[in-house]
Amino acid sequence: MKKLRMGIVGVGGIAQDRHIPTYLTLSDQVKIEAISDVNDTTAKLVAEKFNIPNVYSHYEDMFQDVDAITVCTPNKFHAEISIAALEAGLHVLCEKPMAMAPEECQRMLDAAEKSGKVLSIAYHYRFMKDSQAAKKMIRENEVGQPIVARAKALRRRKVPGWGVFTNKELQGGGSLIDYGCHFLDLSLWLLGNPKPIEVMGSAYNQLGKIPNQVNVWGEFDHETFEVDDHVTAYVKFDNGSSMLFETSWLANIKNDEESLSISGETGGIDLFPLQLNQAKHGMLLNSKAEWVPGEDDPSIPQAQNFINSCLGKEELVVKPEEAMQVSKIIAAIYKSSETGRSIRLQ
Ligand SMILES: NC(=O)c1ccc[n+]([C@@H]2O[C@H](COP(=O)([O-])OP(=O)(O)OC[C@H]3O[C@@H](n4cnc5c(N)ncnc54)[C@H](O)[C@@H]3O)[C@@H](O)[C@H]2O)c1
Repeated sequence: MKKLRMGIVGVGGIAQDRHIPTYLTLSDQVKIEAISDVNDTTAKLVAEKFNIPNVYSHYEDMFQDVDAITVCTPNKFHAEISIAALEAGLHVLCEKPMAMAPEECQRMLDAAEKSGKVLSIAYHYRFMKDSQAAKKMIRENEVGQPIVARAKALRRRKVPGWGVFTNKELQGGGSLIDYGCHFLDLSLWLLGNPKPIEVMGSAYNQLGKIPNQVNVWGEFDHETFEVDDHVTAYVKFDNGSSMLFETSWLANIKNDEESLSISGETGGIDLFPLQLNQAKHGMLLNSKAEWVPGEDDPSIPQAQNFINSCLGKEELVVKPEEAMQVSKIIAAIYKSSETGRSIRLQ
């Protein structure tokens, strides 16, 4: 079987911890031919560590070696690099969020359509076993029409103390664009990708500005903390469904909380852990998984779906037009917070 020749742009944390080990696990289907990073020292060390043959300082120089790239740079460069690769005839898996702003997402989408190549965004929460089962339950009409989504992605004092996560210019935002985006994406997907029409939100840049923070994930500089640390929002969709949403890196809560629930016409679903809640046979009936086979590592099915889509063997799970809706909601939440008004989307 022909292997997909893969290149990776930006070989920091997520490339080394997720994408490179995953592609090495799937070495019968994909070969990492080249990497590139603006930091030559990092690039060389990573190439040696993982035995990758070609190393470049500039991403465009590696396009000749590969069929596809995985973009793992700070958010600011997602659009530029993805568009250049698509225009060069390559498939692209871009880390989340799709880009910093909806206009950039639109240009990525246009480039993908023009090239006919695959563009996907690494919203890996969709590939978790709970998420896959929840989507199947909804498809098989176990809860009827989904009406309300409630999502919480809350970390208690866990601002990433590494990388550029608190730099607005390079990342475009904080807890919302970095962490909450996964839960927005998952909620939209489970709701059936309705179109967002109105967004009301508050984005706080308050706790991160206080000196000498207690922070579990290393130290960060409160003086240069430019991004949101806590966000709440309410979203209305064109089909009448709606979403209640909260995310934070720095919440003053008892424990971290990752939860998502969907209420449908005839039943509901809780995720993390998964539970199906129905009114059936004249009673309230709840079902939980007793045993689930295999590990719950979403990296493998995510990579597998991307590779198979590039080879024309499978439908893409995370479509770029869906990921763009997440970016539209993120931009609208920030705008709503700035203006103090709800934002209408077309
Ligand atoms: N899916 C997830 O859950 C998840 C988790 C962590 C990070 N991410 C995403 O992955 C991306 C990178 O995050 P990270 O944690 O790996 O950051 P990082 O800072 O550890 O690594 C980024 C790397 O990109 C390099 N780089 C910067 N600009 C570049 C450019 N123009 N061209 C080539 N290389 C460049 C840097 O030198 C660095 O080595 C971000 O978009 C982030 O949102 C996703």
